[in-house]
Amino acid sequence: MVDLSVNIGRLKLKNPVMTASGTFGPEYGELFDVNALGAVVLKTITLEARVGNPPPRIAETFSGMLNSIGLENKGLDDFIKNKLPKVKGIKAPIVVSIAGNNEREYALLAKRLSAVAKISALEINLSCPNVRHGTLAGLIAQDPDVTGRIVRAVRSSTRLPLIAKLTPNVTDISVIAASAEKAGADAVLLVNTFPAMAVDIETKKPKLGNITGGLSGPAIKPIALKMVWDVYNKVDIPIIGSGGIINYKDAIEFMLCGATAVQIGTAVFTDPRTPGCVIKDIRRYLEHAGYRRIKDIIGGLKA
Ligand SMILES: Cc1cc2nc3c(=O)[nH]c(=O)nc-3n(C[C@H](O)[C@H](O)[C@H](O)COP(=O)(O)O)c2cc1C
Repeated sequence: MVDLSVNIGRLKLKNPVMTASGTFGPEYGELFDVNALGAVVLKTITLEARVGNPPPRIAETFSGMLNSIGLENKGLDDFIKNKLPKVKGIKAPIVVSIAGNNEREYALLAKRLSAVAKISALEINLSCPNVRHGTLAGLIAQDPDVTGRIVRAVRSSTRLPLIAKLTPNVTDISVIAASAEKAGADAVLLVNTFPAMAVDIETKKPKLGNITGGLSGPAIKPIALKMVWDVYNKVDIPIIGSGGIINYKDAIEFMLCGATAVQIGTAVFTDPRTPGCVIKDIRRYLEHAGYRRIKDIIGGLKA
């Protein structure tokens, strides 16, 4: 039996496959064994409720999708009271994604969530393309200094493992990743969606109510992969790869390029069983290739 376990700092995963924030709900438990996952990442929450962007908020594209949800959520108090109890039965580690308008809000979210049982790690969303973060730049992770400030503020408010989620919309993502590492992140997650748009030629209107949105799915995979490779050569903390993973081959590519774990998002809209299949197929691939531990393939690209 191949050992599929990996470590993200102090966070121990029985296998490297996680769901991606905003794409997983506890209702999926009826379709596949959620407990088989390495970890479950919940949709990003904010301190106060947010209504999100005007509809339509989803559009299908060639090999991917656009979304402009805009971090719609009912806020921290509702999350603790109503959302968390719904996922408490899940045995896989639960990762909560947080976003704030400023350092104080990020730190407060981290502090309040640290006092709540069953949360195994926090994902710091520094990269949603569909919102403005109050006094902060729209995409926090475009600026290495602001990224460092936010991660440091969260770090000093919690002992939970921290995952910094970065945007691909930068010139050199490894500079931002290095800043997150220096500020105390236990891992970097790359990438969030790519700012993008689509147009309906009959109505001559944008397909999204917000005009622009974030592109995800297979269309972004080769670009995300290159970013993982770039960061792998620059930072020492674990990398979680995300962007267009639909099967075990994609996941293995990310791991060969240096990812310790992977997240699956858009693919679950096509088939919610995808994460479970990827776990099974990764095991089969490793057994066939004669590996005893998945850790042995991380960064194994022959370049
Ligand atoms: C409908 C939808 C909602 C999303 N919501 C969030 C979110 O709330 N927070 C976040 O950090 N990322 C969010 N994302 C981004 C995903 O977590 C993931 O990083 C991205 O889609 C790339 O992976 P994929 O190609 O496997 O989907 C969302 C993506 C989609 C498609």
